[in-house]
Amino acid sequence: MLVVDLGGQYSQLIARRVREARVYSELVSYRSTVDELRRRNPAALILSGGPASVYEDGAPRVDPALFDLGVPTLGICYGAQLLALELGGRVDRTGASEFGRTQLTASGGELFTGLAAEQTVWMSHRDTVVEPPTGARIVAASPSTPVAAFEDDRRRLYGVQFHPEVVHTPHGQDVLENFLHEVAGIDALWTPAAVIDEQVERIRAQVGSERVLCALSGGVDSAVAALLVHRAIGDRLTCVFVDHGLLRKGEAEQVVDMFGGHFHVPLVHVQAQERFLARLAGVVDPEEKRKRIGEEFIRVFEQEARALGDVRWLVQGTLYSDVIESGGTDGVAETIKSHHNVGGLPDDMEMELVEPLRLLFKDEVRRVGEELGLPERMVWRQPFPGPGLAIRIIGEVTVERLEALREADAILQEEVRRAGLYRELWQSFCVLPAIRSVGVQGDSRTYGYPIAIRAVTSEDAMTADWARLPYDLVELVASRIVNEIPAVNRVVLDVTSKPPATIEWE
Ligand code: XMP
Repeated sequence: MLVVDLGGQYSQLIARRVREARVYSELVSYRSTVDELRRRNPAALILSGGPASVYEDGAPRVDPALFDLGVPTLGICYGAQLLALELGGRVDRTGASEFGRTQLTASGGELFTGLAAEQTVWMSHRDTVVEPPTGARIVAASPSTPVAAFEDDRRRLYGVQFHPEVVHTPHGQDVLENFLHEVAGIDALWTPAAVIDEQVERIRAQVGSERVLCALSGGVDSAVAALLVHRAIGDRLTCVFVDHGLLRKGEAEQVVDMFGGHFHVPLVHVQAQERFLARLAGVVDPEEKRKRIGEEFIRVFEQEARALGDVRWLVQGTLYSDVIESGGTDGVAETIKSHHNVGGLPDDMEMELVEPLRLLFKDEVRRVGEELGLPERMVWRQPFPGPGLAIRIIGEVTVERLEALREADAILQEEVRRAGLYRELWQSFCVLPAIRSVGVQGDSRTYGYPIAIRAVTSEDAMTADWARLPYDLVELVASRIVNEIPAVNRVVLDVTSKPPATIEWE
C-alpha cells in the first residue's frame, strides 16, 4: 500500500506503523499523478498529515480523481481535511485548535471495530472538519472536534482527525490495522522471512553469476546486508573488514568469529590499525580526524578490492529512510536532505551497487538480522560512529590513550548491560578529554586522565536527553574504571542534552 506524503512530520512514521502491521508500505509524494499511483496498483492509500492549513497558499493538494480509483483510502489529520474539502464536506478555522491528548468517543464505524467507544487520542490541528464528505457519516467525536472521524463505506473513504500513528494514541495501531486488514482486506504477509525470500530473489536476479564485494563495519546494517547477499549467492560474495583499530573492545574479534567462523562467509580481515594510527599522529582537530580516517578507509578498501580482481558489484547498506531523506522515492521537497554516504565508500568507485536493505526501515533490518541468526549483541548494538573511538578521544589519538578509553568503555558497557539498561539507552559510551588532573592513590599523588561517561536516550539522534543512570550504577562504573585502569584517576558524568550539546564530543 502507499502512504501519500503531504509534507507532515509523521509521514515516515505512518509507513513504519503500516509495516508493523506486516503490510508492505511505501512513501510517495503528493505530487505523483493519479496515473502514476494507479500504475502502482496499491491495495490501499493513506493520506498523511501536512502543514497547518488547507487554505494556505501553496498547501499540498491531491488530484480529486484519486478518490475515484476505488482504492480504500484513509486520510489522517490534514489528509482527512483534504478528503472533506474535495468531496463536498467543509473545513473551517473554528478557533477550536486541539493540541495534545484528548478523549475520543466512537459511535460504531469499521475503523473502531473491537475497540472501546472511549479512547485517548493525540490531536494536532487548527482547522477542523465541520462537515464530512457527501455520503460519509460521522463515526467519532471529541469535545472540541465534532467530526473527529468519518467513513464512507460505499466509496471506502475514511478520515480521522487524530494521529493514530503516534504512541500518544494508545489504540492507534489498532485503528490502522482495522483499516488495513478489515477495510482494505490486506493480509499480514510482510514478515522477516518473506523479506528474506524476496531480497534473495532480487539479489540473484540482479547479480547473476558475478562476484560481489561487501565492506563489513561491525554494525548491524552491513552485517545484515552481507548475510542476505551470502544467502543469495554463497561464496561469490567476499566481505572485507577493514580493522582500523578504533572499534570497541572485542568487536573486531566478534566480526571475524561471526562471519568467518560461524557463517563461513569468505572474509578478508585487513589489519590496518597501524596505518590508521600513523595517519592520526599529531592530529587534534575533530574534522581533520574524520577526514583522515575516511580517506584512509577508502585507500585500504580500494587496495583490497583491486587485489580481489574483477568484481563488478558492491554491497551498500542504504536503508529506506536514507532513500526517503535523499529524495530518492520521488520525495517531497521539504524532506530532502543531502545524502550521506552510508558505507563511507567512494562515489567514484566503478562498481555497481547492490542495496538489499533499500526497502527496509532500521527496525526491520534488526528483525531480518534476528531471522538470519545474527546474535542479539550485533542485532541490537547501539549506534557507533564510523570514525569510532578516535572521535571520543579529545586531542591526539595515541595507543596509550586508545587503550585507556577502550578499557573504560568496556567496563561501562558491561555494567550497563548487567543493569539491563543497554537497550533502553540510545547510546552509552566513555569519552577521554584532553586534560589531566591531580589525584591521590595510595600514598602517592597522581596526574592522570579523566573519563567522562556519556549516556543518552533518543528516538532518532536529532535530539537527545541525558540518561538518568542510577547512582549505584554510576558509582560502580566509576570505581571500577579508576581501580582497573592505572592511567585514569577521575570519572565525570556528562549531564547535557542535545541541543545544546551533541551526543558525541567531537
Ligand atoms: P551527534 O554527536 O552529532 O551525533 O549528536 C548524532 C548521531 O550520529 C552518530 N555519529 C556518527 N555516525 N559516522 C557515523 O556513522 C560519523 O562520523 C558520526 N558522527 C556522529 C553519533 O554517534 C550519534 O548517534
